[in-house]
Amino acid sequence: MLRRLHHDQPEGFAFTPANQAWAEAQISKYPEGRQASAVIPLLWRAQEQEGWISRPAIEHVADMLDMANIRVLEVASFYFMFQLQPVGSVAHVQVCGTTSCMICGAEDLIAVCKDKIAAKPHQLSADGKFSWEEVECLGACANAPMVQIGKDYYEDLTAGRFGEILDELAAGTVPVPGPQNGRYASEPLDGLTSLKDYEETGHTKYNASVQLATDLGDTVKRIDGTEVPLLTPWLGGDGPAAGAAPKAARAAKAKPAASPKASEPKKDAPKAAAAPAAAEGPGTKPATLDAPRDGKADDLKMIKGVGPKLEKLLNTLGFYHFDQVASWTADELAWVDQNLEGFKGRASRDAWIEQAKILASGQETEFSKRAKY
Ligand code: FES
Repeated sequence: MLRRLHHDQPEGFAFTPANQAWAEAQISKYPEGRQASAVIPLLWRAQEQEGWISRPAIEHVADMLDMANIRVLEVASFYFMFQLQPVGSVAHVQVCGTTSCMICGAEDLIAVCKDKIAAKPHQLSADGKFSWEEVECLGACANAPMVQIGKDYYEDLTAGRFGEILDELAAGTVPVPGPQNGRYASEPLDGLTSLKDYEETGHTKYNASVQLATDLGDTVKRIDGTEVPLLTPWLGGDGPAAGAAPKAARAAKAKPAASPKASEPKKDAPKAAAAPAAAEGPGTKPATLDAPRDGKADDLKMIKGVGPKLEKLLNTLGFYHFDQVASWTADELAWVDQNLEGFKGRASRDAWIEQAKILASGQETEFSKRAKY
């Protein structure tokens, strides 16, 4: 199966502030120079937020991890868990079509998908609420046939019950996941044959997976990062909540006298711009500042194409405000493009000047509106 970027891409991508803090906390798990190890968690969080992985999301993650875009695309396109096309606004349904489920009726469930959602997998339903695909064994074979909807499993399905579940989801309710034929878990349908005293000792209303699913209530919810405070004990102390100060803590965690190998400099790390005086190349260097005016820099990440790394690099070069970027001449833009170590040409490519003019006038761009929500 060919896995390619979708033909219709959004204009930009930004993590919600809470998800951004979460992502930075994940990056802090890894030693300096090994931040690329966080690529899967960050892509996954992007998908949990948006439902699918867009090209701007890939570029955003690449920026955060100092990776080439193609490296992140390779990961996103390799793993089938990443959706490379828009999914239903309510839910993406994954029908297990492997042996146990196939024998027990998976084809009937797929027929329901074709009838109620779309004729082909990965197509949106007419109302945009659902999409579906067939997947390999999801490890719930004893409860075949089954589907995964969002984060949870619906098991022991019939075509009729599956259709009802889709109707309930479309109506805005989330049916209780787990076995749909009255079974508690995966015990024999006609009752326990061993460990019979289990029922007498009492147990939760639902089996552990379903209980957790109902407790969390996030079966089909998009994750904006505010759901559960994420602790970061690896940063020391009591493990501050993610976003409390992950960057500062990460800096403190870095070993000051690491061996050259361990601290292997990355070609596009902000450190490379630590000596802007040495920067050179075509064009004319724009006027710069030693520090932000009134001690308060603009959030340059509101410019599409500027991630945390680039913002730091711009600050290092002496750019803190939208009006500075907005005032660059073509000659100065050429200088900036040349001196964005690791991101050369990004200022022209993403039309920073045009965006900065809008932001400097106090208005919003489509991207900045989205980045702030
Ligand atoms: S075969 Fe469907 S869950 Fe294993």
